[in-house]
Amino acid sequence: MSTDSFLSIDFGTSNSLVGAYHQGKRFEALPLDEKAADPTMMRTLLYFPNPDLCYYGADAIEQYIEQDMEGRLFRSFKSHLPNQNYLGTVLDNRILTLESLIGIFLLELKKRAEKILDTSIEKAVIGRPARYSMDSVADGFALHRMQKAATFAGFKEVQFVPEPLAAAFDYRRQLQSEKIVLIGDFGGGTSDFTLIKLRPDGFAKEDVLAIDGCPLAGDALDSVFMSHRLNEYFGAKSRYRLPMGSNVLTMPPAVSQRLNHPAHIVHLKEKDTYEFIREVKKCSLTKKDADAVERLFILIEDQQIFPFFETIEKTKRGLSNSSEVLFDFDYPGLEIKENFTTAQFIEWAHNTREKIFASLDECLTSAGVPAEKVDLVCLTGGTAKVPFIQQEFEKRFGQERLQTQSHFHSVLSGLTESAGFWAQGTCFPL
Ligand SMILES: Nc1ncnc2c1ncn2[C@@H]1O[C@H](COP(=O)(O)OP(=O)(O)OP(=O)(O)O)[C@@H](O)[C@H]1O
Ligand SMILES: [Mg+2]
Repeated sequence: MSTDSFLSIDFGTSNSLVGAYHQGKRFEALPLDEKAADPTMMRTLLYFPNPDLCYYGADAIEQYIEQDMEGRLFRSFKSHLPNQNYLGTVLDNRILTLESLIGIFLLELKKRAEKILDTSIEKAVIGRPARYSMDSVADGFALHRMQKAATFAGFKEVQFVPEPLAAAFDYRRQLQSEKIVLIGDFGGGTSDFTLIKLRPDGFAKEDVLAIDGCPLAGDALDSVFMSHRLNEYFGAKSRYRLPMGSNVLTMPPAVSQRLNHPAHIVHLKEKDTYEFIREVKKCSLTKKDADAVERLFILIEDQQIFPFFETIEKTKRGLSNSSEVLFDFDYPGLEIKENFTTAQFIEWAHNTREKIFASLDECLTSAGVPAEKVDLVCLTGGTAKVPFIQQEFEKRFGQERLQTQSHFHSVLSGLTESAGFWAQGTCFPL
């Protein structure tokens, strides 16, 4: 029996989970966040009321509200990993690199797990998406930064395992006979696929037929509500004319792109952008244009960015169960009510969906396996609940081959299994 201890970490864009392989035993998802609705799922959130203090997960939201939303709340920071132009952020004149931001979060996960298990642990199996980016250089860069973040958190040895492969290992436990299985893991930041030959026992490297994916998932779906409708309320189409200038300009893409995406909008608060928006407001063409930019100020100044995106996300989740949902944001100066329908959502998400399913096609093509040869399709992750994702799978594979896992623990479960292999000196099949 190995006495060594290993953590398994599903560091997700939206939610993070930790398990362990400790003293020869598996520990499934540890209750890391006692304030969360499900204590085994900690929201991937960091809140700094000031640069010397940080809150995590459910506490981050609670404190953010309690402290009048002053300071900085970071969400979806995992998705910055492949972005070579994004080095980090500035907190009160102090530079906080992305690696240290993620490192701070991983360190907290480590500390909480160590407390529960009453031991210190320096080895970890950490999940990684199939692709952080479609560009292989950026993908390598992202993994390198994750390695640095893990070192920052105090891990001495780390193995990275593709998240969809980990999910596949969880499904293996349900099988009676060998099958070709397609796993789709639709999270907050990435959509990941693995095509694998699974058998109840044993595995070989050759069993992994293909792994692919793309960096678009739940956050990208949230952002379509902003880019197709709501950003107009915040000046995305506002026109302005610079002093002495003759050209009528609109908000540049650098600003509107930040506005549209949950991972990026927090950076509107950074000085240069903020100053720029202030200029735009002064030079707005009409009162309507100026009013919209004013709303953007309120959104940023009154710390309404996070609640606004929470309301978008709630609306999107509502559309998983209903064909029409009222988006209702009620903050003085920012009262916005809009009815959103499933039909609109499907239309707006068209490009995102195309890209996601192109990477599924790529996964099957690279393995040389046609859809009819797939015995079973297993879907997991929060975004797998979106009806049009399910329907696309039904269309391609038929309902009878489809299985959707309602829990969020598949990836973690496979990572913990992988930690077990490591403990026994065997390697994961990659
Ligand atoms: N009922 C629902 N309908 C639509 N989307 C949902 C639903 N429930 C959760 N989601 C979405 O699922 C996403 C979170 O899923 P999950 O926890 O699997 O992601 P993650 O593991 O944190 O991210 P990743 O694996 O991409 O790093 C969020 O974008 C959330 O909005
Ligand atoms: Mg995930």
